[in-house]
Amino acid sequence: MSFKIAFLPGDGVGPEVADAARQVIECVAGRRNLSFEFIERPFGGCAIEQAGHPFPAETKEICLNADAVFLGAVGGPKWDSASIRPESGLLALRKSLDVFANMRPVTVLPGMEHQSPLKSERAEGVDILIVRELTGGVYFGEREEGTEKASDRCAYSKPEVDRVARIAFEAARNRQGKVTSVDKANVMATGRLWRAAVIALHESDYPDVALEHVLVDAMAMKLIQAPSNFDVVLTENMFGDILSDEASVIAGSIGLAPSASLGQTSVGLYEPIHGSAPDIAGQDKANPIGAILSAAMMLRYSFGEDEAAREIENAIDSIVRDGHGTADIGGNDGTCSLARKICQRLGA
Ligand code: NAD
Ligand code: IPM
Ligand code: MN
Repeated sequence: MSFKIAFLPGDGVGPEVADAARQVIECVAGRRNLSFEFIERPFGGCAIEQAGHPFPAETKEICLNADAVFLGAVGGPKWDSASIRPESGLLALRKSLDVFANMRPVTVLPGMEHQSPLKSERAEGVDILIVRELTGGVYFGEREEGTEKASDRCAYSKPEVDRVARIAFEAARNRQGKVTSVDKANVMATGRLWRAAVIALHESDYPDVALEHVLVDAMAMKLIQAPSNFDVVLTENMFGDILSDEASVIAGSIGLAPSASLGQTSVGLYEPIHGSAPDIAGQDKANPIGAILSAAMMLRYSFGEDEAAREIENAIDSIVRDGHGTADIGGNDGTCSLARKICQRLGA
């Protein structure tokens, strides 16, 4: 089988971790008789430099016609006061692919509890899938810029909630059978709509799945207090952004956390959840595991290569368990040497 990947390394550590992921995908291709075509294009801050826009029309065309899109990270201090920011390109990419469900798994593997900043007994057994709504809410509402007054409108429609909630319930059926829906229904109208839509869908189509509702402020607390109580966490765009950064460090580092963004029929988008990490960019320090696990998710969700995905995940587990890793997880490796070791473990 041959797959076309729109490959967008982006800015900061983006190219470093994206290259590591590409190497691992190429190792897997060699072993499994798969073929991948990487079509690399500018995206984010580097695209502003090259083409005057973070998401140039030609990059968009390539993404829409690919089998999947792989992204490193975008942004950085250089563009923080630009009139069009790299981050707006990322929002436009997500919207144009219509990838409304952002899957962000956080897993603490047996034997890896000591990587967590939490007490080992709290980190033990943590296996959470955050399903973050990705193409609605305050990220895409009407915006009024200003230095005296500014506003960001948060809106959700029932169909927008239904379609992402359905993905969360379906995922729960293949896991521990529990969904925690997180909202701010005590204050926000969108929170009340969110909760009512989730309750109605649960009653009509998923009564077999356990459902609980938690307000977002309490959720921030409970994630730290008892993270192993959670299975699938369903939430809106902004809350999912914040809670997933928080959840990622339970496993040891944001550098470990992958994501897949999926739509009903659309091209999938795969990216680590971290940003361009300007503080460590260009120093071979970034942890490439989040990017490599995102590549595994791409193999699984977009290409149907579940075995290849599992092979990568197992290679990473065993490498990390042997004490290899970048500095953020207490290891001595650089980005490149860790990627090389993962390839070696894969038998390449
Ligand atoms: P960040 O995720 O880039 O970094 C936060 C902290 O985590 C930093 O200390 C960084 O060194 C560390 N970190 C991040 N990735 C790491 C990795 N792979 N290995 C080891 N350590 C890692 O968040 P930030 O500093 O708030 O944002 C920097 C820029 O990235 C901003 O412009 C922001 O808008 C952008 N951003 C982009 C994305 C994306 O492209 N998907 C995601 C988040 C932030
Ligand atoms: C993420 C990032 C993005 C978001 C930014 C860079 C637009 O933080 O992917 O988590 O907020 O979704
Ligand atoms: Mn984020």
